[in-house]
Amino acid sequence: MKDVSVGICGLGTVGGGTFNVLTRNASLIAGRAGCNIRIGRLASRARRDDLELGDIPFSTDIFDVVNDPAIDVVVELIGGYEVARELVLAAIRNGKHVVTANKALIAVHGNEIFEAAEAAGVIVAYEAGVAGGIPVIKAVREGMAANRIDWIAGIINGTGNYILTEMRAGREFSEVLKEAQALGYAEADPTFDVEGIDAAHKLTILASAGFGVPLQFEKAYTEGISRITPYDIAHAELLGYRIKHLGVARRREDGIELRVHPTLVPQSHLIAQVDGVLNAVLVDGDAVGQTMYYGPGAGDEATASAVIADIVDVARTVASGSSQRVPYLGFEAAALEDLPV
Ligand code: NDP
Ligand code: HSE
Repeated sequence: MKDVSVGICGLGTVGGGTFNVLTRNASLIAGRAGCNIRIGRLASRARRDDLELGDIPFSTDIFDVVNDPAIDVVVELIGGYEVARELVLAAIRNGKHVVTANKALIAVHGNEIFEAAEAAGVIVAYEAGVAGGIPVIKAVREGMAANRIDWIAGIINGTGNYILTEMRAGREFSEVLKEAQALGYAEADPTFDVEGIDAAHKLTILASAGFGVPLQFEKAYTEGISRITPYDIAHAELLGYRIKHLGVARRREDGIELRVHPTLVPQSHLIAQVDGVLNAVLVDGDAVGQTMYYGPGAGDEATASAVIADIVDVARTVASGSSQRVPYLGFEAAALEDLPV
């Protein structure tokens, strides 16, 4: 069986989870990929003693991974915008495929990155960037390929949903946020979670995959949960509603509307039952009708599940030696310039 060599950049929550699952399930994953996925190099600001890294080459300079000629796939799990952008563009220039969980990077710099990947003939895969462990990009782009999608809506930030769920049980916003950070759910800057920025990143990517439009993060109306009070939550409940933070992308005559904000959802709706760190995404297609994708929206091994699914996809292509493909963002060629909000 052929070996495909991956280099992991960033050994935090998701990097650690990815390392552990890749190691633990190596033979099962090899069977599915049709090749051995070998971790050829690791890089992060510091080594982690709680992971059994063995003698895998480790560096504190993430660019060592990109410059290692033996690495086929660079797995970007450092987060953030600028260094991650440089890293990914350098990997592409060096002819390496990229797997990332970084939705901020894709939402803001994705158009540039996909263009570079297409020119270089390499794959950039980002399933883990949206809704953690739920394979929703694959579902929207491949499973719904027969459909005209009219809208996509859902809970796409696990930290925010966890906070709203615990506040309903009477707990304090700040105490629950600290807990979500300790559990590894929150972004390095948690204002991304509580001000809706992370959800807007994910919605931008989902909309691009579903409607075949370029990434247009700046067009999203973005409002978070930081001003929701226990009083709001209690009164919504009294009236038969539940406050959920939703991302909504809707096809309109003149473009795609993108918005994230707290929403009153009838308690009887399935979305109202999605609690804790779980996410759920509803997608409406003209052929299939409404579909819903549900599962853990954050966390180490849950997110690793999606990262590794992408690694397997890429490794299959590398191992087959077939001409490389760049999975693009959507299945329509329409480029809609203006997204009204
Ligand atoms: P962490 O902060 O836990 O991990 C990032 C790791 O990368 C840390 O070890 C960090 O070191 C290291 N790192 C950051 N910058 C550099 C650098 N320039 N050079 C070397 N090492 C660096 O983040 P997560 O694992 O939570 O998130 C990683 C990515 O995955 C992000 O893009 C995030 O949005 C995304 N994501 C996270 C999910 C989750 O549940 N946590 C779910 C889905 C996606 P140090 O800590 O010392 O800075
Ligand atoms: N901070 C993000 C969340 C991680 O809570 O949903 C998963 O993308």
